[in-house]
Amino acid sequence: MSPSVLFVCLGNICRSPLAEAALRQECTHSALNIIIDSAGTGDWHVEQPPDERAQAVAARNGVAIGHLRARQVTTSDFHDFDHIIALDNQNLRDLTAMRPAKAAAKLSLLFDHVAGRAGEDVADPYYGGEDGFDQTWAEVTEAARTIRKWLEAG
Ligand code: 4NP
Repeated sequence: MSPSVLFVCLGNICRSPLAEAALRQECTHSALNIIIDSAGTGDWHVEQPPDERAQAVAARNGVAIGHLRARQVTTSDFHDFDHIIALDNQNLRDLTAMRPAKAAAKLSLLFDHVAGRAGEDVADPYYGGEDGFDQTWAEVTEAARTIRKWLEAG
């Protein structure tokens, strides 16, 4: 069966679309057909494409994300996805609070998948400069490698 993963940040225009892109790129040669999506806990940017700086860093690293559109996480997501991975602790708390009692989805924090960085936030690059997006890309790419192996291990 295809495992499914939903990445969740606040706006769904910076960090989670980059995590989605990094895992999609990481899984290009995987035998698994992993279903990958992203969403935000907030609704300010619904229907908008990713931030131009996020589009630029993804493009520099070989992935086009301009077609993505932001959406807000829903309670259905907790039934539709096997794994929901929060980009920071506040989003993890918000997801935990809205999680339906019988939902199947397993919640985790992105950096809990990276050795030595458990419990850390992926910093929000939205209010900073271009270089913050390079850091975000490096972080989500490192996590994507271990998440792919974790999913392949079943
Ligand atoms: P993201 O970044 O959660 O990584 O998509 C943000 C984007 C927009 C806002 C906050 C964070 N905002 O407040 O509009």
